[in-house]
Amino acid sequence: MIPDLDSPGATIGVIGAGTMGRGIAQVAVTAGYSVLLTDLSSAATEDAAIFIAAMLRRAAEKGLMSAEEGEAAIGRLQLVPGLKALKACEMVVEAIVEDLDAKRKLFAELETTVSKDCILASNTSALSITAIAVVCERPGRVVGAHFFNPVPLMKLVEIVDGENSDPAVGDAVAAFVARIGHRGVRVKDAPLFLVNHVGRGYSTESLAILDEGAATPFDIDRVMTDVAGFRMGPFELFDLTALDVSHRSMESSFDQFYGEPRLRPSTVLQRRMNAGLFGRKSGRGFYVYSDGKIERPEEPPAPSVLPASVWISSADPDGFKKVHARLEGLAGKVGIESAERPSRDALSLVTPLGNDATTQALAENLDPARTIAVDTLLSLETRVTLMTTPATTSRNRDEARALFAAAGSKVTAIADCAGFIAPRILASLVNIACVVAQQGIGTPDDIDEAVRIGRGYRKGPLTLGDEIGPGRILTILQRLHHLTGDPRYRPSPWLRRRVQLGLSLKAPDAAN
Ligand code: NAI
Repeated sequence: MIPDLDSPGATIGVIGAGTMGRGIAQVAVTAGYSVLLTDLSSAATEDAAIFIAAMLRRAAEKGLMSAEEGEAAIGRLQLVPGLKALKACEMVVEAIVEDLDAKRKLFAELETTVSKDCILASNTSALSITAIAVVCERPGRVVGAHFFNPVPLMKLVEIVDGENSDPAVGDAVAAFVARIGHRGVRVKDAPLFLVNHVGRGYSTESLAILDEGAATPFDIDRVMTDVAGFRMGPFELFDLTALDVSHRSMESSFDQFYGEPRLRPSTVLQRRMNAGLFGRKSGRGFYVYSDGKIERPEEPPAPSVLPASVWISSADPDGFKKVHARLEGLAGKVGIESAERPSRDALSLVTPLGNDATTQALAENLDPARTIAVDTLLSLETRVTLMTTPATTSRNRDEARALFAAAGSKVTAIADCAGFIAPRILASLVNIACVVAQQGIGTPDDIDEAVRIGRGYRKGPLTLGDEIGPGRILTILQRLHHLTGDPRYRPSPWLRRRVQLGLSLKAPDAAN
């Protein structure tokens, strides 16, 4: 019979007392479970016990629990010497080294010591649950329970059903996850599971822009934080995760997906990794770190010479409105032209969606030397992204920078690049979330919440897509696909169908 983990009386075994194992043990004893913690190294378990006790006492001091509750939780943790001591467990969570052979060996041995009904869960972040479970006599009892670091704060667990997992085992783990106060999401045993798969949209697309030479890592980070509202730019995140870890993981998932172009790694990362520019941990990555503190390069000062007059394209009425509203206050200083065509000397502003500046200038029959593209997908309040054509003169570019700086925005000027920075990265993120929904790796609701919590985003990717407008996301992708010829931009059929039917991206198929 499958154990009832909805009862705090249950005993949970945790193997591996490192970063993750100690976090899992802490949340389990806090929720009332008895925990038996073991590790190859007794120093690791002893250290973990001291750490957990300190964390629980601090939580009591902060008023998150009473002192008695804290001491009772500490009392529910028991350090045990090896696998034999886990006989009484209803569930064992494995959090040892990320190595398939080591995990397989452990699971095979574990099965000989625990009861026949005991649930075996692995906290692997990237290995296949199915591949771990094949060594077990009862693969049905093996599931993934992928926690995020730090476990007490990251309130998300991907519950991974392997090909042979009994769904009722996943249900029991879901009850445990709910009792510890985390959000459990059921996911298929696909490479990268759910959160890390969707999150690849953020990292690989930022690298694609860098590879293209359109913008610097600092430009991309500034736009993604100031305009798109992410807490951390993609390149600062690479530095935090460490390049050797991220690059190897990108290479391995690209192989596991048989060369899916959306997940393509970057030669820039390979080169930087070879050079030892790992990031924060090596003191230098995309940024330099001194005494552990990031040094952000100064932004170039904005030029001050304004154009005599400016003309704003109304080809995209929304874009026109946004730019016009931003520049209105400068009407006394700059002539804002309202004729159908720009005057001979006017700086021409276009607002493409997915197109590059060159394509847009030619489509509107404008002089490319005087044309500047403005990204109007999101707000222009904090920062404005400008794009030049290869023919735009530096005088016109500098006047455009001066114009938006005078209107009160910070300005990022990049080379010609289909989709600017934020629209391109956001469209890629939404597209991959739609691919994951299409593949049934998780439900739309779970995808949205899991990525929001697991990546610390303000909004889930499908909510973001709905807010921007699924039709706009589709247009950006179609134009990127057309202009670059790169299959990484091919839109997910899940997205296209919902646009065609006018449905929300969070809508599951009605018949499901
Ligand atoms: P860690 O290196 O901090 O701890 C691993 C612990 O396992 C060590 O104390 C080690 O002595 C022990 N160990 C190794 N082999 C063992 C064995 N055969 N039997 C008993 N103990 C053994 O590693 P961490 O970061 O806690 O990762 C553990 C697992 O969790 C890995 O599978 C990792 O991929 C996964 N994970 C890690 C995350 C992270 O951010 N660190 C996030 C999510 C999952």
